[in-house]
Formats: sequence, C-alpha cells, structure tokens
Amino acid sequence: MTKASAPGKIILFGEHAVVYGRPAIAVPVSQVYAEATINPHTDARVIIDAVDVARRYDLGSAPSDDPLATMIRLTCARFDATPSHFSVRIHSTIPIASGLGSGAAVSVSIARALSRYLGAELPPDEISALAYQVEKLHHGTPSGVDNSVIAFERPVYFVRDRKIESFRIAQPFLLAIADTGIAAPTRIAVGDVRRGWEKDRARFESLFDKMGVIADKARKAIETGQVERLRHLMNANHILLREIGVSSPDIERLILAATTAGAHGAKLSGAGRGGNIIALVNEVTQDKVERALLKAGAKRVIISRVETKF
Ligand code: MEV
Repeated sequence: MTKASAPGKIILFGEHAVVYGRPAIAVPVSQVYAEATINPHTDARVIIDAVDVARRYDLGSAPSDDPLATMIRLTCARFDATPSHFSVRIHSTIPIASGLGSGAAVSVSIARALSRYLGAELPPDEISALAYQVEKLHHGTPSGVDNSVIAFERPVYFVRDRKIESFRIAQPFLLAIADTGIAAPTRIAVGDVRRGWEKDRARFESLFDKMGVIADKARKAIETGQVERLRHLMNANHILLREIGVSSPDIERLILAATTAGAHGAKLSGAGRGGNIIALVNEVTQDKVERALLKAGAKRVIISRVETKF
C-alpha cells in the first residue's frame, strides 16, 4: 500500500487577474487535504475508488476527460508504465468547488502516491506540471497557480509562464477562512470573466492591472512583516473582484459579518460566486469573527496560521 497526501490552498491576492498574466499570491492550507492510496491487487484492471462521492469505476471505461483517470494515465505514461493491477483510493476533506484547490490537491496526491508506487516520487515541478494538465480539464484557461502552490507546499508568488517564486513570511498572521457552502465551479466564473473581458478589454485590463499592483504591494508587506497593510489591500482587492462580477450575496454577507466583528480586512478567495472568503484576524478578534461568520451562515470556519515552514 502506498499513500500520499496534498494540502488545500488559498489565494491571498490576485485571483482571476493571474489568468491574464498578473501576479498572484497563494499559500497552502494544511488543515484540509486530499489523500490517495495505491493498493496492488491480482486483478489486471485499475480500479478508481472515489470514496467521498461513492464512485467506484474501472480506469479502462473512464471517459478521456475524467480528471482522476487522466492523472493516473499521465503519471503512468511518465514512467512508461501500463496501468494495471492496482486500485487508487481517493479521499479528500477539501470541499469541492470552494476555492480551496480540491481538484489540484486530488491530482497532486495521486501523482505523488502513484509515482512513489512506480519507483520514485517525482519532484514538485514535475508533479505540478502533470496536475496542470488535469486543471485544463476543470477549466480551459487555468493560470497554474493552484497546482503550483499545492505541489510546492510553500507560499508562492506566481506569474503565469514564469518560474515560480517562493517568499518569506516575516511575521505569521491568522486568517479566518469561511465557507459560504455554495459550490461554485471555477470554470463558470472564469468563463464569465472571459466574456466580460472580451466585451470590454480596456476596463478589465485596467482592473487586472490594479489587482496586480495590490499583489505586489501585499508581497512586500508580508515579506517585511507589515501585516497591518494587508487590511487596505484585501478590501481593495475585494472591491475589484466585485467589479469583475465574481462576488455574490452570500460572499458579501460573510464579508460584512467578518469586518463588523473586527476582522482587519476581508475578501473572497479563489474563483468566487460562492466558495470561501478570507478575513484577517488576530488572537484577540479570532473567536468573535468566527462566531459572527457562523451566525451569518458560514458552513465552516477554519482559522489558519500563515507562516513560512521551511
Ligand atoms: C482559482 O483558484 C483561481 C483563478 O484565478 C483561476 C486560475 O488561476 O486558474 C480564479
């Protein structure tokens, strides 16, 4: 039996704009994870067992755009191996379509476990590249930020088609990550933004530019320990995300609840339209903000400490 896991992620700044070449900052979230287990068996078939969605099926009959099957095929191809005589069990605690990178984490956990099973665990850049192929099935124009932050398991400063950079978190800080409970596939929000951009490129490009400037300022603030600067940057980034049309009444309700209860800045995180919001808290405000978020309808609140672990 060979097992491997991969964490969730949150985007701190720059979602959507990152698809259009601007920088984004993302960090892993270890409180949630996906886990893949490879079990050899005597049957020649490869069985995929997605336990959380109660789906058990044969790799041979999986359609060509099935994300789990694709990840298995790609990893085996990397080792020139014909997939046979094993099962892949996938379990994830990351809510689907919530902005926490569930799809990328499942892909990364499969690539890690299967490459280990086939001989040698691949390095993060190769795992990330394989997972990126699957991200393309989830939505046509992924930036690659999700698979990168999850495969490297480090805070990343990410610009599309550039070598990924990690950065130092000078002063750890706390985030409340609150789930609206609305599953919102990335593909839909990214597609709508694309249509908006096609209709009015000048306006969208200027909004993306502003998001890029915010991501750069945020990186500097985080690297120099000026966490108090994130308040304004988070709020400003959220207003821009609202302007490109990816907020929703549920998101706005949670953001208002968090800021009213004393959060020092809040924004949606990920593709939007549902999924999670993030709010900056500290040891004094975290309980009050968490209670307010739950009262306002959050399905779950995770308090995550953002820090450099290497
Ligand atoms: C999704 O987690 C982040 C988006 O920016 C899409 C992407 O980067 O591919 C919305």
